[in-house]
Amino acid sequence: MRILVTGGTGYIGSHTVVELMEAGHDVIILDNLSNSNEAVVDRIGKITGSRPVFYNLDMRDGEALTKLFENERPEGIIHFAGLKAVGESVAKPLMYYDNNIGGTVNLLKTMEKFGCKNIIFSSSATVYGDPEHVPVTEDCPKGSCTNPYGWTKSMIEQILMDLCIADKEWNVVLLRYFNPIGAHRSGTIGENPNGIPNNLMPYITQVAVGKLDHLNVFGNGYDTHDGTGVRDYIHVVDLAKGHVKALVKLAPGSGLNIYNLGTGKGYSVLDIVKNFEEASGVNIPYEIKEPRAGDIATIYADPSKAEKELGWKAEFGIKEMCEDSWRWQKMNPNGY
Ligand code: NAD
Ligand code: UD1
Repeated sequence: MRILVTGGTGYIGSHTVVELMEAGHDVIILDNLSNSNEAVVDRIGKITGSRPVFYNLDMRDGEALTKLFENERPEGIIHFAGLKAVGESVAKPLMYYDNNIGGTVNLLKTMEKFGCKNIIFSSSATVYGDPEHVPVTEDCPKGSCTNPYGWTKSMIEQILMDLCIADKEWNVVLLRYFNPIGAHRSGTIGENPNGIPNNLMPYITQVAVGKLDHLNVFGNGYDTHDGTGVRDYIHVVDLAKGHVKALVKLAPGSGLNIYNLGTGKGYSVLDIVKNFEEASGVNIPYEIKEPRAGDIATIYADPSKAEKELGWKAEFGIKEMCEDSWRWQKMNPNGY
């Protein structure tokens, strides 16, 4: 299939491009490099043996997007492009609504104009809020988000659902990711956060490599086995493979499909610290701090729907996730 990957030089996008190319698909990448680096395109070429086509453009630029569609005629879109820093979204909500929602609406309008009505969207477990039950199934009611970033995911889901109701030609897959960590086994591509990382694993790897002094553990009074927050960490390569499998739901008449992409297992912050120490042989000093605003105690997926309907299941365990995160950080201490 001829696939346009928006946000394809980003963390999850780049890993997905590799899996798509290795599965024999034609890939075109669109990214404005607001949170990534063009060097990623060469790194993908190094892994796969061929450099994907790359457009440096902003998805809010309708004219540039139209030209891209004219030149490339994609058959399906995998839509990763968006801003994702939770704290920044609280400080700059308009920037998030404009970029994530405005950009997506512009993309959808262009798709409609060219009769390309097949899209896989990067949603998030954040749409469940504090979930009604765990493990979370896809029919668990969506919750109240605690920040504008989360709302952009929830609202874009709604826009895509409305499109499917209005026009039966649309085929939409909403993939709700749990917590992606890890990197390509080669250490060639990985997560490259700007500044001090917000998320747990990149923070830990930067402590391990000596860029940060210690980890701050946000609260140890939650109702979990050791008091620290429990999440469903998933290897980014497993997540990437989930997208390749989900392409089958872009076949005509598929309509709307929603899947959780997680492992079904929950690990606490301290479980992750221990597993990382074992995998890397490096000690991670930590201090217990106040809980982070908006955090919940526990969330993990019921991923059985994706297994049943897509034949997809996460294969890597926490050991590989930690090993691969560490390999990437060690080989690229300053990112790309
Ligand atoms: P990322 O920041 O590494 O990748 C996103 C890419 O989108 C970046 O390369 C950025 O430059 C690009 N981009 C942003 N705005 C753009 C615009 N207007 N036009 C063109 N390109 C634009 O993030 P990621 O971790 O790879 O996440 C990919 C997607 O998955 C995002 O939509 C994110 O919200 C979603 N998601 C991520 C996680 C996670 O934990 N990483 C969890 C759930 C959902
Ligand atoms: C966060 C976002 C979520 C987003 C996801 C991926 C919030 C409230 N949620 O999820 O919307 O989709 O990232 O980008 O920000 N932790 C520490 N110390 C740290 C960092 C994290 O103790 O320095 C803890 C957290 O409290 C949490 C766990 O580690 O219990 C995982 O945190 P994180 O990696 O930020 O992911 P989420 O909070 O699940």
